[in-house]
Amino acid sequence: MSLIIAVDGPAASGKGTIAARLAAHYRLPFLDTGLLYRAVGMGVLASSGSLDDAEAAEAVARTLDPASLSDDPQLTTGQAGEAASRIAGYPGVRAALLELQRDFAAQPGGAVLDGRDIGTVIAPHAPAKLYVTATPEVRATRRWKQLTARGDAIAYKAMLADILRRDERDAGRGAAPMVQAPDAVLLDTTEMDIEAAFDAARRIVEAARVRSGL
Ligand code: C5P
Repeated sequence: MSLIIAVDGPAASGKGTIAARLAAHYRLPFLDTGLLYRAVGMGVLASSGSLDDAEAAEAVARTLDPASLSDDPQLTTGQAGEAASRIAGYPGVRAALLELQRDFAAQPGGAVLDGRDIGTVIAPHAPAKLYVTATPEVRATRRWKQLTARGDAIAYKAMLADILRRDERDAGRGAAPMVQAPDAVLLDTTEMDIEAAFDAARRIVEAARVRSGL
């Protein structure tokens, strides 16, 4: 067995930062799977398609080049997040992105992946699973600070509404809904700064390593 670390949870819970820090700590390759969905959403918009068109979204997902994703600033915008969550419910889109995520997880030395369905669908046998969460208000504040710091004009109230809408859509969809895997450890970062959250995450992974002899 290799050290696959599955990090799931809602938007702005801290899961992305935690996953990246875990990958650096354990020297493992890291995939932010949200970027795949964001790229598909933006791809649909760029081809002037509609986010309501499941077939168009699936076509974009099938031709997605994962190598083109890193460092594209467009993908980290609120618009990309919203577009991603609109197309992420289409089973055809999820199927098109499944194999590349599973292949990434299956690398010999292990890997860290963050998303919504890593511990439930992509890597159900991962020895280390975390479900990272925080209250919607704290998550909205974090995301609002991030976006305003880089000049995006958005009101806190709109940010909170966006987070709540996204939670509802991600948790409510039929295909691979956002849910804590039964064997995932819950990490609530509401009262934690990033150092405390990373420390708690590392301890969860260490316990999983001991448990699975890795
Ligand atoms: O994590 P991030 O905010 O980048 O994800 C954007 C959207 O992509 C999520 O709101 C969700 O709808 C979708 N997503 C998903 N499954 C994943 C990762 C992201 O459905 N594994």
